[in-house]
Amino acid sequence: MLQPHQVHPNDKGHYNGYIGYYWSKYTIARRYRPTRILEIGVRAGYSALAFLEAAHDQGRHQEVVYVGIDGETGTHGGEGGPYLPWAEKILNEPHGPEYKVILLEANTQRALPESVIQVLENEGRFDLIHVDGDHTKRGALSDLDLAVGFLMPNGVILIDDYDRAPAVKEAIDEWIETHPEWDHLYIPSFNGDVAITRLGGGTELDPIDTPEIGRVAPTPEAPQWIDSYEKAKLTDHIRAGDKVLIRFGHGLGDTMMFMPIFDKLQRDYPEVKFYLYLESGQEHFWPSVPKMHAEGLGMDKVFVVHFPMSEGHAHGLTKQHYCCEVEIGIDPPEEEFAQLKEYKAYPSPYVLCHFHGTALPDSVNCPANVAAVIWEEVLAAGKIPVECHFMHMFANPVNEQFDWIERHVRDVQPTIHKLAQMMAHSFAFIGVASGPFCVSMGFNPERTLYLENRHPVATYAKRETPASINVNGYQKGEVQRWLGTLS
Ligand SMILES: C[S@@+](CC[C@H](N)C(=O)[O-])C[C@H]1O[C@@H](n2cnc3c(N)ncnc32)[C@H](O)[C@@H]1O
Repeated sequence: MLQPHQVHPNDKGHYNGYIGYYWSKYTIARRYRPTRILEIGVRAGYSALAFLEAAHDQGRHQEVVYVGIDGETGTHGGEGGPYLPWAEKILNEPHGPEYKVILLEANTQRALPESVIQVLENEGRFDLIHVDGDHTKRGALSDLDLAVGFLMPNGVILIDDYDRAPAVKEAIDEWIETHPEWDHLYIPSFNGDVAITRLGGGTELDPIDTPEIGRVAPTPEAPQWIDSYEKAKLTDHIRAGDKVLIRFGHGLGDTMMFMPIFDKLQRDYPEVKFYLYLESGQEHFWPSVPKMHAEGLGMDKVFVVHFPMSEGHAHGLTKQHYCCEVEIGIDPPEEEFAQLKEYKAYPSPYVLCHFHGTALPDSVNCPANVAAVIWEEVLAAGKIPVECHFMHMFANPVNEQFDWIERHVRDVQPTIHKLAQMMAHSFAFIGVASGPFCVSMGFNPERTLYLENRHPVATYAKRETPASINVNGYQKGEVQRWLGTLS
């Protein structure tokens, strides 16, 4: 499933569109079950991800090879690029080690560089070639010809945008017309795909027989899959005794807005058992089934709730009201909309770091290189380092901010109260001998780590706390280990 964080920053705001596109490709790949995939026109890697995920979900792993070619031409969707680095990032992320992913930068409308031809020849032929590069008629025709040269006898060429790009449609129509020895199938997918294969080559292009293409085609044992509410709303479909999964693939804000609706649905239909599938981190806050398709969970129905951004607005409805009235089919829980669900309390993520003492900077301060390592180790421990150095009336001008510090309080008007409040709301303090260190000792000695330079910790405390480390002989990992000992 394409995750919000896998969507390129230039595409933010079009997430729902990419989801539909992604499902089209995913569904098609499930049908043809390719293991050797070539794509012309990779852009940010969304179809590539769908192809690989389909292979993963069908249990094909080690043997799958994906080769993608993109000229980074800045045209036909490539505007605002480059995109290949992003594709590389997301393709190596989810199932990375399982697959061989090769991304090549080359313009297919020019002679391919020797190095690219070499890679293609080494990889042999492909059983799925996705043509989605140059969208001019000439470009699409020449990419189809290129694809034929690298196709296995029983392979399938899939070309995108039949319904979206008139020049591509013309190219496909002409190519089919002039290649009678090839079979073809129009697939009513997100942008209109056409699958092309050799007649008698061994692959039958039987229609992908679901009008739900672009969603997941239900398999016989799979639950009924519903993601359109034009004819009937969610509550029109459900029956007493049903086990129902709601797929809510949205971010934090939408999920929080949806929760009162989900609660109301459960209250209104107590005889139906509802489950949620959440993702992108939301599953850590609310209960969620672990598998998007609810494999093995015995669901009767799966609903995809879209919770769209602007459709409701056009009818004078908020997103929540649109969801209740148009998708779910319940009265909106007005009172609960006013107050969002309470979160449980969490420990503070902040670790205050103080690297400079006001007086005696030579014998007190933490060297810049050690401070940088400590900062990184706080991050590596999953915490948020904040430099706790106030520019108070005695501030020593030699204590300049390290240029890599982005979170600090140097621009905040210094008061002792603010320092104390920060201490009270932080997970831990790490610092040199100075005011903040002493304040932290008062608040929370067990969570105070002294950065010892030439003044031994015993100058400050006789007891076992605070923990201390010597900044002149710093052993990498000490801070991270210490943070790990605090619960
Ligand atoms: C529509 S996008 C591909 C979308 C991609 N298949 C996906 O799943 O998101 C078209 C891509 O083709 C690339 N392209 C355009 N002309 C090309 C050419 N002559 N050679 C190689 N790539 C080209 C563009 O750089 C762009 O990234």
